[in-house]
Amino acid sequence: MRVFGIVGSMRSNRHTATLVREVVEAMEDATSPLEAEIVHAAERTFAPCRVTCSPYCSSHPYRCATTDDVGTVLKRMIEADAVILGAPQYFRAPPAHFHAFIERVQSMFFFHETVGAARTPSPLAGIPCGLVAVAEYSNPHGILEYLHDFSTLVGMRPVLLDGFPYLGVGAHGDPREDEVFRPHERAKELGAALARAAAARREGRGA
Ligand SMILES: Cc1cc2nc3c(=O)[nH]c(=O)nc-3n(C[C@H](O)[C@H](O)[C@H](O)COP(=O)(O)O)c2cc1C
Repeated sequence: MRVFGIVGSMRSNRHTATLVREVVEAMEDATSPLEAEIVHAAERTFAPCRVTCSPYCSSHPYRCATTDDVGTVLKRMIEADAVILGAPQYFRAPPAHFHAFIERVQSMFFFHETVGAARTPSPLAGIPCGLVAVAEYSNPHGILEYLHDFSTLVGMRPVLLDGFPYLGVGAHGDPREDEVFRPHERAKELGAALARAAAARREGRGA
């Protein structure tokens, strides 16, 4: 089984990265063998969508005219049995660099599905997706909603939790001291739930 995680923080070894890693570790406890890859947005080149080239992605399903790391990261998502998306809050929004990735992927899907003549189904359809959001002094729920919107708009299936904040793992301030969102507990639950969802999908596809 393959899991692919994206850390949207500009810092590669802080809270977002820790929690994404913890979700992967919980998946490792639940399923074997697990092939895990985590990419850090800060170490990749993601340009914003240029929009004026939309005739290209309208007619080339799920491909983009701009050649940077967006295409290779999207390919790794498509190949995965489960995806983990993690992002912190920067000034009431996700980091601009990570959002450039989200914008580009979303544009490819949007222009093909709404303007393109022939419809090719989403290559991410049905892939279970775990969400992680971190904020310091604001509520991380807004970032969970942002990630939830993105994942559903490209056809993935966000894996929900049975406890607050339901949409995924949230952390408010230092995750070790957060007794409301309980991010470390939730990361374990999310990893286990993601492993179950990915196994069920593989079984359903005869993989
Ligand atoms: C540029 C910048 C802007 C930030 N803006 C906010 C904010 O609007 N609300 C908030 O709660 N935290 C904000 N923070 C705090 C981050 O959400 C917090 O430091 C988080 O842990 C960053 O993720 P990381 O630990 O993975 O780097 C900001 C941090 C930075 C660096």
